[in-house]
Amino acid sequence: MPFRLPAQEEKAQYVLSQFDRIARGYDLANDCISLGMHRLWKMQALNELLRGQSGNYLDVCCGTGDLAMLIARRLTSGKVTGLDFSGNMLDVARSREAKHRNQGKAAVQLDWFKGDALALPFRDDSFDGAIVSFGLRNLSDYQKGIDEMARVVRPGGKVLNLDLGKPEGLLFPTLFGFYFSQIVPIIGQVLQKDRKAYTYLPESKRNYPDPEGISELFRKAGLSHVRHIKLASGSVALTCGTVQ
Ligand SMILES: C[S@@+](CC[C@H](N)C(=O)[O-])C[C@H]1O[C@@H](n2cnc3c(N)ncnc32)[C@H](O)[C@@H]1O
Repeated sequence: MPFRLPAQEEKAQYVLSQFDRIARGYDLANDCISLGMHRLWKMQALNELLRGQSGNYLDVCCGTGDLAMLIARRLTSGKVTGLDFSGNMLDVARSREAKHRNQGKAAVQLDWFKGDALALPFRDDSFDGAIVSFGLRNLSDYQKGIDEMARVVRPGGKVLNLDLGKPEGLLFPTLFGFYFSQIVPIIGQVLQKDRKAYTYLPESKRNYPDPEGISELFRKAGLSHVRHIKLASGSVALTCGTVQ
């Protein structure tokens, strides 16, 4: 049967059930699908996000918490908050934190919140910066997700989105499209016995704007100095904006 994307009003529930199901093996699958490159993209994102070695940062749609942990490892003081609506993803994040703490790798406080990226449970101007990585595409309202991040970051702080971009070149877009739509579901089937969840991932790109479109949403959210950095031949984009 051909894959059918959920209707807009069903999207949140649908996405939640996908991520709750695949939480346990998510990290391994993520490493395989991106050939480990998501780690490098996240390091690059942090270079844009952080302002020195202290501060209070938010990772929206934090999933299993790898990015939040990376932020925590770069800070000597401050706090990192990870927010996700999947309890199972957050359980993995908490175990990751416990392991890192035992190894002495996380010096600053980490807080995990179960909540909705479209209605962040934080006051205005609470953070020095906020980032969402491979999460925005899953929201039922992209503009609202960006508006919410802009709302909770104080003036001068950055809002970042790391997600799929627009592959460039003569052959690469076709190869990338084939890999994402045909190979990724097979990886999901082999590693997690869940082809459906990994068919949703490429499909989630269908209505998602290209980097220029995302930059426009950043501007509409009132962010300034908006730009995007192309990664992996354009297949991934890091969009950055500053709260005024
Ligand atoms: C593809 S994963 C990305 C996880 C992590 N940020 C990473 O880079 O690997 C997307 C995450 O977004 C979360 N998510 C999707 N919609 C959400 C929403 N409305 N509110 C909070 N979390 C959401 C999912 O539960 C999932 O953990």
